[in-house]
Amino acid sequence: MEKKMERIRIAFFDTKKYDSDSFSGTNKNYGFEIKYFKSHLTIDNALLTRGFNVVCVFVNDTIDEDVLNILIENGVELIALRCAGYNNVDISYAYEKIHVVRVPAYSPYAVAEHAAALILSLNRKIHKAYSRTRESNFNIAGLEGFDLHGKTAGVIGAGKIGRIMIGILKGFGMNLLVFDHYKDQEYAKAIGFKYAELDEIFGESDIITLHCPLTAETHHMINKESIKKMKEGVMLINTSRGHLIDTKSLIKGLKSGKIGSAGLDVYEEEANYFFEDFSGSMVTDDQLARLLTFNNVIVTSHQAFLTTEALSNIASTTLGNIKEYFDGGPLVNEICYKCGKDCLKKRGERCF
Ligand code: NAI
Repeated sequence: MEKKMERIRIAFFDTKKYDSDSFSGTNKNYGFEIKYFKSHLTIDNALLTRGFNVVCVFVNDTIDEDVLNILIENGVELIALRCAGYNNVDISYAYEKIHVVRVPAYSPYAVAEHAAALILSLNRKIHKAYSRTRESNFNIAGLEGFDLHGKTAGVIGAGKIGRIMIGILKGFGMNLLVFDHYKDQEYAKAIGFKYAELDEIFGESDIITLHCPLTAETHHMINKESIKKMKEGVMLINTSRGHLIDTKSLIKGLKSGKIGSAGLDVYEEEANYFFEDFSGSMVTDDQLARLLTFNNVIVTSHQAFLTTEALSNIASTTLGNIKEYFDGGPLVNEICYKCGKDCLKKRGERCF
């Protein structure tokens, strides 16, 4: 039965001002009742969802079996992820108990452009130059970079973001080695790159950039063994998910000089820190604290998505997903437990 949109209550977790600004603006077209909570959704506050129809969450909210049980008991019908990745939701436990929708793409340009910004900043040492000139130090010693043109970039994951990244790197005149299980040879031919195996990427790339999802297979794909295979001084960029990299091995690689520089928009234990201001207290996570001491590492706190265009797309797709659900479907952005993709079948049906 159709519900009137203004009676549909959304519990919105991990709210920042830019979220409430964009969602409240877009919600003028929908008229949902949105209650913004600042905290992450966890087992400790899941009880707050009583009386809500929808829970809207982001990358660092935890929706495991225990949280799901509480949401279901509280009568929540729909989990609306306002992000693309869904590794923080126990999709298989949710199956047939509660619907889960996501925003499959909001701006692949935003993420790829941020990855490119990390490459350029690390290579040309913009972060150091900025500090120097602010202190009236105009010495350029130690700021030497290298021409990207003619160097080799390894791209792991050639989906929406990976493909934009491939275009950007191609624009720099780089040679490209690309790994993805799904190989689109026509696309590769049209762009002019070669699919390669992971070992080839590790062994030959001057820059390696990660654009694959976090799965059991990709968890810690950058580890002691893979780092051993890499070129001396390789640059590593991760704008995907923190757990793709074993941080302990990364730190060892940086200390030995094997890894020449790293640009990290994501970190394994980011949920404890990212999006919050710790400048008045301290970072007690020893690995994060160690990473922050390297002057050849740039850490940004999961901000690759943060463009005006992406925020607007996130709000309109999320609220559109919620409307679709209460209109009775089809639910085009539902995550399917079996195929792990958006299920294009009608609500209630799955691809198996
Ligand atoms: P997508 O689903 O379009 O592309 C992912 C690609 O990775 C697909 O082509 C898939 O075949 C490939 N893939 C799957 N398993 C793989 C494996 N084992 N090895 C290599 N490739 C594999 O996803 P999209 O939109 O390109 O996003 C990629 C990732 O970027 C997301 O999973 C998410 O973790 C991250 N992301 C980060 C953001 C940020 O703000 N830092 C924002 C949005 C996404």
